[in-house]
Amino acid sequence: MALVGNGYVMKAKLITFEGGEGAGKSTQLSCLAKNLENSGSRVIGLREPGGTVLGEQLRAVLKNPATKSVEPETEALLFAACRAQLVREVILPALAAGTFVLCDRFIDSTVAYQAGGRGLNREQIDAANRLACGTLRPDLTILLDLDPDRGLSRAAVRDHGQADRFELLGKDFHRKVRATYRQLAADEPGRFLVVDANRDPNLIAEEIWHEVRRRFS
Ligand code: TMP
Repeated sequence: MALVGNGYVMKAKLITFEGGEGAGKSTQLSCLAKNLENSGSRVIGLREPGGTVLGEQLRAVLKNPATKSVEPETEALLFAACRAQLVREVILPALAAGTFVLCDRFIDSTVAYQAGGRGLNREQIDAANRLACGTLRPDLTILLDLDPDRGLSRAAVRDHGQADRFELLGKDFHRKVRATYRQLAADEPGRFLVVDANRDPNLIAEEIWHEVRRRFS
């Protein structure tokens, strides 16, 4: 349980950020972390793949264009492996200690990219996610929705033109990722907040903070 500035209590939650390339997830994660900290909550910010020693090593391999031949099934299992480690090593202990966990990507990324983008079987991806997470599910998932053309150009500027293995995939792939995310949000409106990411980041941060307080305080 975390004490909020004016005395009431916000119970620690798992909040995940999802979206295509260049949608502004990490910026919004930092803004929400600051808002939560300023209101007296303990917070950790994580990213997927990553957040553990094993996860960060696999992240480098998974993102590197030099890792040329990766079967879609291999890719899905490596993301699930990173998640299984992160859940047990970091997320569950943090939540048990009353710390908010903000995670840049989580289960929905594997559905959007490996099922939606790569075309793997959705039930098998769900099964991999269940193995990785057990019964843990995000309390809130913030989908930063953005046209992939715009997102990929933003990512190219951010990365000085050094595209990673996923950014190098064609626009059709990224359109399928976006469509899958939007379908996921439509299927679970109670868990998702869909945010138009093509706006001033300060406005987006305000909208997210308003929604987090509305749901959890
Ligand atoms: P990012 O954190 O900089 O967005 O990089 C992670 C990349 O990995 C991004 O292109 C999305 C991709 N990814 C998947 O394809 N499946 C997953 O399950 C996760 C977590 C990420």
